[in-house]
Amino acid sequence: VAERTLIAVKPDGVQKKLIGQIIQRFEQRGFKLVAMKFLKAPEDLLARHYHDLHKKPFYPNLLRYMSSGPVVAMVWEGHNVVRTSRLMVGDTNPAEALPGTVRGDFSVHISRNVVHASDSVDGAQREIQLWFDRRELVDWECCDHSNTYQV
Ligand code: CMP
Repeated sequence: VAERTLIAVKPDGVQKKLIGQIIQRFEQRGFKLVAMKFLKAPEDLLARHYHDLHKKPFYPNLLRYMSSGPVVAMVWEGHNVVRTSRLMVGDTNPAEALPGTVRGDFSVHISRNVVHASDSVDGAQREIQLWFDRRELVDWECCDHSNTYQV
């Protein structure tokens, strides 16, 4: 299977009407959409998703914010998609995120940074399993194969 990552438009991204622009950036780059859903994330899902952060002082606020409104969860596939997505999304702290990145273009504060992107291939696998049932991952052929270069 080609590399996959979990990308989620967070509640502030949905509020700011950025869903379309964010999807467009991933399509434009040449990645393939494999799954997508719009939902209010249940607390138990968020608790598992952010398990590694549960001792951080900002954790309660993070969960409150992430469950405050709907999110768009997506799985994108392609060559080096995990690393490339992180670059496209920009630094976790929008103050450090370069212009041209999603966060660098659309956000100013770390607690409202618009989008989530898995930070490793293993992390992506774990998160995809958390957010999606295997049957929700769609098997289809991208017409230009630009996302599946074999080296
Ligand atoms: P992300 O990297 O997608 O997932 C963890 C999130 O925790 C991160 O985005 C931020 O939204 C949030 N976060 C990280 N550090 C802080 C912080 N110091 N204060 C508030 N929120 C934070």
